[in-house]
Amino acid sequence: MQYRRCGKSGLKLPAISLGLWHNFGHVNVFSNSKDLIYTAFNNGITHFDLANNYGPPPGSAEEVFGKIIASDFRNYRDEMIISSKAGYTMWDGPYGDWGSKKYLVSSLDQSLKRMKLDYVDIFYHHRPDPETPLEETMAALSLMVQQGKALYVGISNYEALEAEKAIHILKEMGTSCLIHQPRYSMFDRWVENGLLDVLENEGVGCIPFSPLAQGMLTDKYLNGIPADSRVATSGVFLKESNITAENIQIISRLNEVAKSRGQKLAHMALSWILKDKRITSVLIGASKSEQITDSIKALNNIEFSTEEITLIDQILKG
Ligand SMILES: NC(=O)c1ccc[n+]([C@@H]2O[C@H](COP(=O)([O-])OP(=O)(O)OC[C@H]3O[C@@H](n4cnc5c(N)ncnc54)[C@H](OP(=O)(O)O)[C@@H]3O)[C@@H](O)[C@H]2O)c1
Repeated sequence: MQYRRCGKSGLKLPAISLGLWHNFGHVNVFSNSKDLIYTAFNNGITHFDLANNYGPPPGSAEEVFGKIIASDFRNYRDEMIISSKAGYTMWDGPYGDWGSKKYLVSSLDQSLKRMKLDYVDIFYHHRPDPETPLEETMAALSLMVQQGKALYVGISNYEALEAEKAIHILKEMGTSCLIHQPRYSMFDRWVENGLLDVLENEGVGCIPFSPLAQGMLTDKYLNGIPADSRVATSGVFLKESNITAENIQIISRLNEVAKSRGQKLAHMALSWILKDKRITSVLIGASKSEQITDSIKALNNIEFSTEEITLIDQILKG
């Protein structure tokens, strides 16, 4: 595994991190979830990303992860970077959503109980809140660091200008913003229009989520929808309607470019993100442990020629 410095902080993260959005809920097979954590950690993936609402049901991914850590990884806590977040709907009433201090502080306390941890390494505000003053949300993050309940804090899904504002407010409070977690893949390149520049200027790391576009940027949907795929088993965030003929044509052409580089499309999709030095880590999901060992192979080739970049850009334009 390669480890990359997170912005200008003292912390290094693995070039590939594992997210627990899917496949760790109470609805999933516990032995498989455990296998995923073992495979990741045994292959140098030291960073595990959670959020209060991951499941289903919401909260259950933290419970399942907490159970695994308590029983099998207690002695390895200092070798792990564990994150959680709050920002989406979690409980009823006006205090279980968005960005108030009341919600964020209560939510982190709940997450720590579910995961049986004393602290998280990184706590994120999960999405910007248009109604709560940014100062209040950032003060809540800063408080968590002062209380020792989070070692570092970050933001997720913030656009370039609001990210810059949040980073500055935190700095004025004496707290550094460690990292930003945006969606970024060959299919969704919004971060290239300003956000990555802001993060570089501010010395903040970047950990893109859904780098495989939830599995679309692999060869799995080229010949239909496999029964064990996210579209077939969950179908909520990635739907059959996303697997359009137009997308399949693009995926198929990208697959040919990957082959010419001696890679599978999943590898190329990850290495295409990691070619940018402003990226700290790519945050993958996995339903099977073999996907983790497979995705790590992306690190064997993260260099792209100008011709390859141009060709990929052309293909993505459709
Ligand atoms: N901050 C936010 O708002 C936010 C939002 C979304 C996600 N996230 C974070 O990002 C993490 C990753 O998101 P994601 O799960 O959408 O990421 P992703 O890596 O784009 O998609 C993961 C899915 O791709 C398939 N896959 C993975 N490796 C593969 C391989 N080598 N070959 C073939 N297929 C492969 C699997 O799908 P199958 O199930 O089809 O096998 C897997 O479940 C989440 O767990 C979460 O921590 C954050």
